Amino acid sequence: MYKTMMQQNYAAYQAEDQAVWQLLFQRQWDNLKDKAVGELWPALEAAKTALNGQEIPNFNQLSPLLQKEQNFSIEVVPGLIPVEEFFALLAQRRFPSSTWLRKMEELDYLEEPDMFHDTFGHIPLLFNAQYADFMQEFGRIGLQLAHLPEAVAALERLYWFTIEFGVCQNAQGQEIYGAGILSSFGESIQVHQGNNCEFRPFQLETVLQHHFYKHEMQSVYYCLDNFQSLFGLLKEVEQRLLSLA
Ligand SMILES: [Fe+2]
Repeated sequence: MYKTMMQQNYAAYQAEDQAVWQLLFQRQWDNLKDKAVGELWPALEAAKTALNGQEIPNFNQLSPLLQKEQNFSIEVVPGLIPVEEFFALLAQRRFPSSTWLRKMEELDYLEEPDMFHDTFGHIPLLFNAQYADFMQEFGRIGLQLAHLPEAVAALERLYWFTIEFGVCQNAQGQEIYGAGILSSFGESIQVHQGNNCEFRPFQLETVLQHHFYKHEMQSVYYCLDNFQSLFGLLKEVEQRLLSLA
């Protein structure tokens, strides 16, 4: 159980913070129209009374809505948290989110994920039942294997190349579902245009071994044939990683 019970201090957001949120939300909403997986739009629709371009989401509204729709809640965290606590939260259908928002002068570059990444990037797809179940199952497998550093590293890579930087590739081109791309204006354009990056077919064994770098745009994306195939991955992941035990 994650111990610090932090709260979002909504009254602390200033007018400039609200302006940053409105700009980020509207810009990315427009930008993603032809770039994201189709499943994003009904999910955003389901979340829209509490997650929209009018104001910074209030977790006292967004979390109960997500709870009602998918029995998932939002857990306020200070930033990145230890991986075992992260697994534990997901296994309990609690998604960790920060509450600080980037400043106007850093709209496009962040050292650490802020609440635009956490909420606009991650929360909408949690309104998709299969995605929410996937996240819980990912947490359960992580907890079960948390004592095995090699398995934890493999799970972090899987998370990185799916939940954070996942892309599907079909006849029309690339469709984004990873939160790191969905929440990045520059990276969503990079993926859509295919500039400075390579798309590889998703091969589980390769992904589980691919060392990744934070703090820069990705140069390699592993593409699923379609969004649905994400949900079939975890059985094989668990079997492979249990063999490390
Ligand atoms: Fe993230």
